[in-house]
Amino acid sequence: GDAPAPIDKSWPHEGMFGTYDRAALQRGFQVYQSVCQGCHGLDYIAFRNLEALGYDAEEVKAIAAQYTVVDGPDDQGEMFERPGRPSDRKPAPYPNDAAAAAANGGKAPPDLSLITKARVSGEDYVYSLLVGYEEAPAGFEVSEGGYYNKYFPGHVIAMPPPLYPEGVTYDDGTTASVEQMAADVTQFLAWAAEPKLEARKQTGLKVMLFLIVAAGLLYAYKRRIWSRIH
Ligand code: HEM
Repeated sequence: GDAPAPIDKSWPHEGMFGTYDRAALQRGFQVYQSVCQGCHGLDYIAFRNLEALGYDAEEVKAIAAQYTVVDGPDDQGEMFERPGRPSDRKPAPYPNDAAAAAANGGKAPPDLSLITKARVSGEDYVYSLLVGYEEAPAGFEVSEGGYYNKYFPGHVIAMPPPLYPEGVTYDDGTTASVEQMAADVTQFLAWAAEPKLEARKQTGLKVMLFLIVAAGLLYAYKRRIWSRIH
């Protein structure tokens, strides 16, 4: 495509010592819930996984219960609906891809569970896409049902601009600018794609520390063993 390189943002979870910002993840989940989930699934996330965002068991129960999930078959062989439980996955917005595409001008909104891994530039791209809606340059023909986005390859995307200032009322009182919501939901999606990022980095650091200590010891032994040879 002819899209410019995405905005190079610095993320709290980037780098060797990076960790997720829990407050941003919770705000991002709020954005996902109030804006994205009507069109985009998050197949790999079970409600109980949200405890990692800092919600306690009761809060997770309450979040799960906001959703209706299909269960069954029951004794009569019938499927039935019931409120969600922590062990359920978040229900998909559409029954299948064909329905998803039909509702969105022929383009099915992709599941967002792994989106920060599925696109080159990951978080930077997702953030840029969300803030990248603008008026098409003079002479650029935007096809029917499409929207001009600076960062989308080809520039014409079937997703209408999802974020508007104050589109979300944050529980923690943060002002919901488009940039704020885009950054928060991007961090939430990065967490969804890699919930074990912090454990992975901690293990890496422990391994490095072990290797440094082991190297020092081996060097000391080597000097001692060879000390009698001149
Ligand atoms: C595509 C994120 C809200 C409909 C996408 C893509 C991302 C994304 C990352 C993939 C772009 C690519 O392929 O490179 C989000 C986020 C949202 C949101 C974070 C909430 C803040 C919505 C809403 C709708 C929607 C509310 C429906 C009204 C679509 C569609 C596509 C898409 C139809 C496919 C576009 C195409 O291939 O042309 N979205 N989205 N999205 N989204 Fe969203």
